Amino acid sequence: MCGIVAYIGHQDAFPLIIKGLKRLEYRGYDSTGISVHDNGLKIFKKAGKVAELESSVEELTIKASVGIGHTRWATHGEPNDRNAHPHFSADKSLSIIHNGIIENYDTIKKELLSKGYTFQSDTDTEVLITFIEDIKKQNGGDLEQAVRSALHAIEGAYAIVILNEENPNQLIAARKGSPMVLGVGTDEYFIASDATPIIEYTNEVVYLKDREIAIVNREDFRITNIDDVEQTPYIQKVEMKLEELEKGGYEHFMLKEIFEQPNSIADSMRGRLDAANGTLTLGGIYEYSQALINARRIIVLACGTSWHSGLVAEYLFEEYCRIPVEVEYASEFRYRNPVIHEGDIVIAISQSGETADTLAAIELAKSKGAIILGIVNVVGSSISRVTHEGAYLHTGPEIGVASTKAFTGQLSVLTMIALSVAHKKGTITQTRYKELLVELARIPAKIKEVLDNNAVVEEIAERFKDAKNFIYLGRGYNFPVALEGALKLKEISYIHAEGYPAAEMKHGPIALIDEEMPVVFIATRDSSYDKVVSNIQEVKARKGVVIAVVTKGDALIPALADYIIEVPPCEEALMPLISVIPLQLLSYHIAVMRGCNVDQPRNLAKSVTVE
Ligand code: AGP
Repeated sequence: MCGIVAYIGHQDAFPLIIKGLKRLEYRGYDSTGISVHDNGLKIFKKAGKVAELESSVEELTIKASVGIGHTRWATHGEPNDRNAHPHFSADKSLSIIHNGIIENYDTIKKELLSKGYTFQSDTDTEVLITFIEDIKKQNGGDLEQAVRSALHAIEGAYAIVILNEENPNQLIAARKGSPMVLGVGTDEYFIASDATPIIEYTNEVVYLKDREIAIVNREDFRITNIDDVEQTPYIQKVEMKLEELEKGGYEHFMLKEIFEQPNSIADSMRGRLDAANGTLTLGGIYEYSQALINARRIIVLACGTSWHSGLVAEYLFEEYCRIPVEVEYASEFRYRNPVIHEGDIVIAISQSGETADTLAAIELAKSKGAIILGIVNVVGSSISRVTHEGAYLHTGPEIGVASTKAFTGQLSVLTMIALSVAHKKGTITQTRYKELLVELARIPAKIKEVLDNNAVVEEIAERFKDAKNFIYLGRGYNFPVALEGALKLKEISYIHAEGYPAAEMKHGPIALIDEEMPVVFIATRDSSYDKVVSNIQEVKARKGVVIAVVTKGDALIPALADYIIEVPPCEEALMPLISVIPLQLLSYHIAVMRGCNVDQPRNLAKSVTVE
C-alpha cells in the first residue's frame, strides 16, 4: 500500500530517493519522509505529497550517500507529520521505513511501555523499530540478529528497510507479504516496492521472497532467510522502459493509459494470436493446459476491477468452454472456508500482482490442492511467483490508480484463454473459432474509433459533472461493464454510483429514478437488446435521464435516450473490450471537471498490499 525506496552507493541519496518516491506515489500519498545518514541519522518527513516534502527542505544542505524513503497510505495512525515514516527507535540510533501491517504490535507496545519506552507516533512501525532496539541492547549490539529475532516475534505483513546510526555503510531490508525489489547497480544498490524507481539506474534486480532478509553493504549484498540460512540471489533483467513511466504529453497517466489501449491490447495479443492462420498460442499455460481443458469448474479470485474482468470470464468460459465458473471476491473467499477439491482450477486475476486478499486466497486454495493460474500485469510480482502457471498482460506499467488498460488487457487475455480451451475441447466449431479470432484481432482498431469520439463523451461529462448519483445498467456481457463504469466514476470523481444488471431495476433500484438521476445504459446490439430497450423505456417512464452506449447505426435507442455514445459493431462476447472505453472517458472527464486528482484519488492506492 505504501511505497518504499532506499539507496546506498556513490550518488547523492536525498534527491535520488525523492525521485524514486515520486515514481511510487501511486502506492499511497498521505505523507512522505526520508531518513539519511548525514553526519548522523536524520529524518525529514511531513503529511502530504512528495513535492511538499521536497519544497520544505529545499533551503537545507543535505549531503548523504545512504538513505531510506517512504510514501504512506495510512493504516495505523491518521495521516499527519507525527505518523509519517521514517520512524526513529527510542534512542534515535535506528530509523525504519515499513510497508505493511504488524498485527500484534499492541502486545509488543505494552511490553515496551512496561520497560519505560515512550512513543512519538500511533504507528505499528515505531513499535517494531523500538522492539528491535530493545533486543539489540540485550544481544550485545548485533543489529542483524536483533532484526531476525524481532521478525520471528511479529505477525503480519512487512517490507522494511533499516538505517543504523553506527553503520552508514549498510542497509538491512526484509519482506513478508509486502513486495520488495533489490536493484543491483555498479557499486550502488537500490531497494524499492517495485522496479519503477530503479530502472533509471539499472535493470538488474532481485525480487526478495517472503521471509528473506537482505544485508546490503556499499560493495556487496547477501540474502538469508529469517533463520540466517544463506540464499542464492536470482538476479533477473527488467524489460520496463523509462518512457513508459512518463505521461508522454498527456495531462494525466489515466488519460494516457486510456488512449494507449489500441496498442496495449495489440501487445497483449502479440506472439499469441495469429488470426490469419486461425491459431492461438499461450506459452504461459502449458503444463496445466490439459487440467484446464478437463476442469470440472473454474474458481476466479480477484478484487475490484480485476473481479469485474473475472465476471466477463465467467460468461466466456461457460458459453464457449461449457465449464462452470464461480467468481469470488478474494477477501470473502479467504474467510468463508470454501469447498475446494484437489485439482480444481483457480484463475487469480490481479494487475499489480500484490493484492494481499488475492494472495491470501491463492495460498488457501493452493493449500487444498487447487491448481492456480495467474493473470497478472506486473512482471515478477508476488502473485506471478506463487501461481503454478499463468499469463502476463503485456500492457506495460499502469500508473493511474484507476485501472483502465489493465482491465481491457485482462479481458483480452481471458478471451484468448477461453477460446483456446474451447477449441481444444471441441466445444466451439472451427468456423466459429476462426471468426472470433479475426474479430479479436480487429479490437484495437475498433477501440481507436471509440477514442476518436472522445469529444462527444466530454460534452456529456460537462452536462453531468455536478450529479450526485449515477446508475449504470447492462445485461449479459455488458453487466460487468456496468459495474466497472460505476466503479471508475466512484473512485476518481467521488460521485456515488451503482452498477446493476438492467433487469434488476424492477426489484428495487428503480425507486431511485427521477429527473435528477442519470442512468447509463450499455445498450449495444446483442442477444438481450430488446430487453434492454424495454428497460430504457421503464426508466424514461419515470423521467430518468438516459445516457446510452449504442452500436453505430442504431436508430431505435437514439429516439428514446437523452444522450448517445456510439461504438462500432462487435461480437457480443468481445463487446466489453469496446463498451467500457466510453465509460472510462466519462469518469475521467467528470473527475477532471470536478477538479479531482485523477491519478491519485483520495483514500486509494494502486496496489492494496494490506488486507
Ligand atoms: C481499480 O481501478 C482499482 N484500482 C482497484 O479496484 C483494483 O482493481 C483492485 O485493488 C485490484 O487490484 P489488482 O488488480 O492489482 O489486484
